[in-house]
Amino acid sequence: MEKVKTAVFVSGGGTNLQAIIDACGKGEIKSARIALVLSDNVGAFALRRAESAGIATAVVAKKECSDKADFERKILKILRENEIEFIVLAGFMSILGAEFTQRYAGRIINVHPSLIPSFCGEGFYGLRVHKAALARGVKVTGATVHFVNEITDGGEIIMQKAVNVEENDTPESLQQRVMREAEWVIFPLAVEKVASELLAKKTINA
Ligand code: GAR
Repeated sequence: MEKVKTAVFVSGGGTNLQAIIDACGKGEIKSARIALVLSDNVGAFALRRAESAGIATAVVAKKECSDKADFERKILKILRENEIEFIVLAGFMSILGAEFTQRYAGRIINVHPSLIPSFCGEGFYGLRVHKAALARGVKVTGATVHFVNEITDGGEIIMQKAVNVEENDTPESLQQRVMREAEWVIFPLAVEKVASELLAKKTINA
């Protein structure tokens, strides 16, 4: 069966990448094939996860690029060389500019560890999101998968799942529960949903 050639962008531990790799292995994701894992951080453990799964990797380090435009140009070149059709941001900590996101409009998705529009936008990433949620005293938080456009965390929402905040939560314990109960659950589902829609579009246009 034909699958959408997919690149997963990572910067850190890669537990969301792992959830997607596992879902591909179990056949829960059947419309996408991870052809490439790309990182802006050479030390990302996510790269080791990709290698263990036999997936090709690429690194574009910002400090080796003259500016943001150069960084994005280098990434675009790698995507073109690998004929990538779908981009999944799984804990990718660089913000992609309008030129980049427009080029892949409707073909980039991201997972964010809150219920957008709460605790999102520039400056809200990783543990900071959970620190802000606890500081505000919310009783419910969660995760969102959304399309990526030129507005940080501003693209169309694809899926969300709520998670309760517990009395004694720390940012770390809340992050773990949001990952386990929400991110690792909805992200593979959203990858399959969007990939199957992209495949269907391809068939119609063929
Ligand atoms: C995840 O919680 C993801 O939602 C978050 O970073 C973590 C990456 O973990 N992403 C953002 O905050 C993006 N704004 P992982 O590397 O183990 O998947």
